[in-house]
Amino acid sequence: MKLVIMGDLHYHDVDPGIPGLLVARNLFYGNLLGRFLQTEGDLHISLGDLTNAGSATELREVSEMLRRKNRSFVHVLGNHDLYTRSKREVLEITGQQQYHMKDTGQCILVFLDTAREMDLVSGGGWLDEEQLGWLEAIVLASGTKPMIIFAHHPVHNTTIGSDRIKGSLHPDVPIWDVLKLKKGTGIYFNGHAHADSIVTQHNWTFIQISACLDQPAYRIVELEKSRFQMTAVDVTDAGVVTHIPLLKHYIPYYYPNPDARGTDADRQIAISLKPSKRLQKID
Ligand SMILES: [Fe+2]
Repeated sequence: MKLVIMGDLHYHDVDPGIPGLLVARNLFYGNLLGRFLQTEGDLHISLGDLTNAGSATELREVSEMLRRKNRSFVHVLGNHDLYTRSKREVLEITGQQQYHMKDTGQCILVFLDTAREMDLVSGGGWLDEEQLGWLEAIVLASGTKPMIIFAHHPVHNTTIGSDRIKGSLHPDVPIWDVLKLKKGTGIYFNGHAHADSIVTQHNWTFIQISACLDQPAYRIVELEKSRFQMTAVDVTDAGVVTHIPLLKHYIPYYYPNPDARGTDADRQIAISLKPSKRLQKID
């Protein structure tokens, strides 16, 4: 099974009166999503903040671009996607589910909703008791089958930047009470902190992917029976990278991170899914 995963995209509305900005926006996102969708995969995944302000035009336009290639696409909600409307309204436009799981036979894929609605102040993540209870039931039922979680917010004090309360799931969310129940390998993907980072704690590997405006890239995961392998693909096309400075100059609610790019150890990893030989770095 092959997964293609992107970090925070922040597709955004622009002022058409600013010379060149609309063209730059359309070319950057059109070309970047073109590359992402061209990449063969069983599932294409966004880790949230697919849009910058969650406006109806942003949500509609990016959803339409993502439908062009007929890929199976899953979007987990990010805080920016919910800046201006409720979860129900956002999901109606995108056609996505709030949270759900998929048993591939080989592993369990879990898609969480860690975002709060219309909260421009906090930005941090939350999981209510209902969703935590749902997750706990899935973890217990999964036995030793590997589990991969996809969420927008990192677990507190895991990947880089997750030590900030607004930079992670709130530390009061007792998610470790659930994660520690997992037998066998757990892998947790997130965005939000806009920096590449991979950290292992207990039997969980936390993989954080930077934002596309800072690092135009995506990840490819190849899942075999006893091995998980992730590689990073940089998008270096002139039709993508030349437009970034202008977009970053005008985009609201977005703070560029000059240190977004991690080392190779933050961007690629191979994990043995055999319980005894779990972690192997790629040379
Ligand atoms: Fe973001």
